[in-house]
Amino acid sequence: KSRIIVDCDPGVDDAIALLLAFASPDEIEIVGITTVNGNVSLPLTTRNALRITAMAGRQDIPVHAGCSRPIMPGHPREPSVHGLDGLGDLGVADATHEAERQHAVDFIIDTVMREPGQITLCPIGPLTNIALALIKEPSIAAKIKAIVLMGGAVFNPGNTATDAEFNIWIDPHAAQIVLSSGIPMTMFGLDVTRHATLTQERFDQLERDSSPIMKTAIAMMRYYGSGDASLHDPCVTAFLIDPTLFKGVDAVVEVDCDPKGAYGRTRAVENGAGQGLPVCHVITEVDDSRLFQLIDQRLRLL
Ligand code: BDR
Ligand code: CA
Repeated sequence: KSRIIVDCDPGVDDAIALLLAFASPDEIEIVGITTVNGNVSLPLTTRNALRITAMAGRQDIPVHAGCSRPIMPGHPREPSVHGLDGLGDLGVADATHEAERQHAVDFIIDTVMREPGQITLCPIGPLTNIALALIKEPSIAAKIKAIVLMGGAVFNPGNTATDAEFNIWIDPHAAQIVLSSGIPMTMFGLDVTRHATLTQERFDQLERDSSPIMKTAIAMMRYYGSGDASLHDPCVTAFLIDPTLFKGVDAVVEVDCDPKGAYGRTRAVENGAGQGLPVCHVITEVDDSRLFQLIDQRLRLL
């Protein structure tokens, strides 16, 4: 069973990733949720993490707010597939509980130090919090069990202006710090998540006998699916539930941080492993029908 911290920027697909984890207590235990600036501003990603935990009755999972901007000045935010509020502007009820006082970066450090070798980090937003935790307390690198992240596009085009993937493009410096950390790393980039596609048939399947939580999840996905048909972030939690859904290759991945270059693009370094650079397991394939079966079966349990 994985004990995880989900570092997220909800975000509709982040919300589905969380719901999938909540519905899978045999395989996943979430010790905390940390939030970061990304799909929407930090106050909104934090509000959304609280709304999602409240919706699923999981107020017991602490939510810690993290960084409100990337390491280097960022791009102005544009309206996105997640809506102005980040959850599809559907009026999802506000939580009555609040975020913890401790900053996300300190929560990550303290949790990893307390349980060396036990905690898997699951970043599904920009990597600012993880990078700053590694800078503030470098000794956590050897104590983190693994990082399983959504971000990048190593062998395929990106989904932002400079052919980068969104999470990496928002904070490429943070991504480079994390990817070069030497922590056991599994990367779900657009190489694989583009194949986790929402189709009309899959919506029809999800809509059968749906519970109130399912109904809200489907409404959020419908809003989001009209702009981006891929469920990126749920691939990360699905992998922890059933790794046999996916296949990948090992590569050394570097991030382009030059504002005049392909800013935020991830690329495989030729013969990087030969140079002794840290290798990342880059996921490239998914059995998407089994993935959707899993999502359908598990969300129904909530
Ligand atoms: C990533 O960007 C965000 O829009 C999604 O939540 C996902 O984490 C996909 O590029
Ligand atoms: Ca996300």
